[in-house]
Amino acid sequence: MKIARNLPDLHAALDELGPVGLVPTMGALHRGHLSLVAAARQAGQPVAASIFVNPLQFGPSEDLARYPRDEAGDLAQLEQAGCDLVWLPDVATMYPPEAASTITVGGPATLWEGMMRPGHFSGVATVVAKLFGQVRPRAAYFGEKDWQQVQVIRRFTTDFLLPVEIVPVPTVRETDGLALSSRNRFLTPAERQTAPALHAALTRAASAIGSGDAVATSLDVAKQELIAAGMAPDYLALVGAETLEPLERLTRPARLIAAARLGSVRLLDNVPVD
Ligand code: PAJ
Repeated sequence: MKIARNLPDLHAALDELGPVGLVPTMGALHRGHLSLVAAARQAGQPVAASIFVNPLQFGPSEDLARYPRDEAGDLAQLEQAGCDLVWLPDVATMYPPEAASTITVGGPATLWEGMMRPGHFSGVATVVAKLFGQVRPRAAYFGEKDWQQVQVIRRFTTDFLLPVEIVPVPTVRETDGLALSSRNRFLTPAERQTAPALHAALTRAASAIGSGDAVATSLDVAKQELIAAGMAPDYLALVGAETLEPLERLTRPARLIAAARLGSVRLLDNVPVD
């Protein structure tokens, strides 16, 4: 596995490998990230993963300083997963002092996480666009765990006609349904017991709505279940799968999305509604 920490080394490695599938990450890797590497490998191309904790997507009061970092552990896991190249840029490479441009994102970026975290998706789009420019991947792999993020990335990639295929990969879960996340390590043992209630409530509401129950009532029931479990929901909504606009009725492909606070952790999850 090749490791590049500067642009000349990255480009030398890419010259040898040819077009790659790219898996962008912020490190602290778990089986969810590794499933993206597996999906990229299945397409029969060399795979590059990037690890960069992107300051631009964290708000002033968010957890940038305490974001978990474990470079040695990450590299071991990527090697084991069959990754061909790891791109480890530093902040000065991603954001040189003279850099003056960021990407403005609209549409799906303006709702939900976009409202809760102003500037977050602009920061995500800016760093992903830079990674695309640096790595020039054929395809890039993103987790459905962050459903809204995938739709935002698809939108700006299409809007700017970037020649990169965006491939969504299903969410990897613990056996009790909790979606894997780098932030789960901050749950206390008691909170860890409670956390699967989010996926459970979403799954119940999705099947109720899918079988014709009233949307508003089903969403209310699910929110009450979260509150009863000890969580503070930020939002829980039925949305158009691509636009993220709230739906009052199941009239087109839809997703149930939610964010809820549990102790010091914000849990995000989503499920399809058929
Ligand atoms: P990060 O949170 O490290 O996630 C990297 C990728 O792993 C994202 O595409 C995310 O959706 C995916 N992922 C996380 N948990 C997953 C799970 N349980 N199952 C499947 N995929 C999962 O998302 C980011 O980093 C950043 O915003 C990034 C895109 C790298 C830009 O900085």
